[in-house]
Amino acid sequence: MNRNHTTARIAHVFSGTFVHSTPRAAVEILQNCVLGVDDKGKIAFIEKHQDVVSLSEIWGFETSDIKQLGQYEFLMPGMVDTHIHASQYSYAGTALDLPLLEWLNTYTFPVEAKYKDLDFANDVYTKVVRRTLKNGTTTACYFATIHTDASLLLGELADRFGQRALVGKVCMDCNSAYPNVKPVVTPRFAPSCSSSLLSELGEIANNNKLHVQSHISETKEEVELVKTLFPGCKSYTDVYLKHNLLTDRTVMAHGCHLTDEELEIFRETGSAVSHCPNSNISICSGILNVRNVLNHKVKLGLGTDVAGGYSPSMLDAMRRTLDTSKALTIQDPQHKTLSFEEVFRLATLGGSEALSLDDQTGNFVVGKDFDALRVNVCVPDGPIDLFPGEGPKVILEKFLNLGDDRNITEVYMAGRRVVPFPDT
Ligand code: GUN
Ligand code: FE
Repeated sequence: MNRNHTTARIAHVFSGTFVHSTPRAAVEILQNCVLGVDDKGKIAFIEKHQDVVSLSEIWGFETSDIKQLGQYEFLMPGMVDTHIHASQYSYAGTALDLPLLEWLNTYTFPVEAKYKDLDFANDVYTKVVRRTLKNGTTTACYFATIHTDASLLLGELADRFGQRALVGKVCMDCNSAYPNVKPVVTPRFAPSCSSSLLSELGEIANNNKLHVQSHISETKEEVELVKTLFPGCKSYTDVYLKHNLLTDRTVMAHGCHLTDEELEIFRETGSAVSHCPNSNISICSGILNVRNVLNHKVKLGLGTDVAGGYSPSMLDAMRRTLDTSKALTIQDPQHKTLSFEEVFRLATLGGSEALSLDDQTGNFVVGKDFDALRVNVCVPDGPIDLFPGEGPKVILEKFLNLGDDRNITEVYMAGRRVVPFPDT
């Protein structure tokens, strides 16, 4: 517990129960602990509560300033949505009756064209950032639209409300405008990009060490289409590989129909998969075998894929991930169903790894940014009932399966309290 950077001052100290994931433990529950956040928003210490007096001397805080979590409260890492179309939020919860390619033409492209109007963009982007933050998404990897001004506005809104974000359409001119918002090179998907566009985007991404996001192998029809469009490529994955778009900063949504050979290429290049189960079921795209992806040592996070997925909540993404895994077990009893602990890790640490942001966020490790949710499973008129003898693990499981934004009483991003919103 040495204090190694003497200039940092302590901005918050929490005491109580902390729940997070580590590479070794899908769920680690730290009880009777204290966590300090410095004035740069970084986790300064996480120690046993019994050492609080010496910690207060070393770090120079008053024990009376400690925020004490209640018996039914805990802190968990902010959730990471690895794939969400901010521009499709206006019709989330509707338009789920067509398969992908018709869905794009009928619903998506006409709506996305409206983002040349900045007032429209401002309304939708404000609502999606607020809604996802309130639901505990401290990091979002967003698709915007082809409109540069509206995409810049999305970055500005994420910064203003306090959400860590990757925003594509690519904005090379806003590279380091905001500390926690970055551009992401965003070819929509292979069928809507020429080979020369893909090559140029691969070059931009590599020359500037930028993130890359796209879609891959979401539906069988799309996989067949890509075969006819890129006859010189061995597979859908090979299309992106040949255009230098598979890097250790790449996240590809869906991947329902990837072969084992393709997953090998993901592992070798360090590229990640964003699993979007609500979308995959809602528009009948396919069922990703997450266990198989993890067995291939491919990085994997969860995504809402609004509006192919109808819910903007990462709690929903976790539940749909469990449902989908159970559906695979029903089909094949040999399939090893994902546990809720594993899915919790995918929504937090796994997502941060998938976005190559795990040096900054994803769990409670000294030196990382403090991105956290204060969860209270006992809010008045809340969705959860507790019964005697339920320990922290059961409380976590109930929150993941039954909880909602009423239970997320505070959200912190990089040490800044961003929920409740300052205007409410
Ligand atoms: N593939 C290409 N564009 C899209 C999109 O907007 N949503 C989904 N789910 N898949 C896509
Ligand atoms: Fe998508």
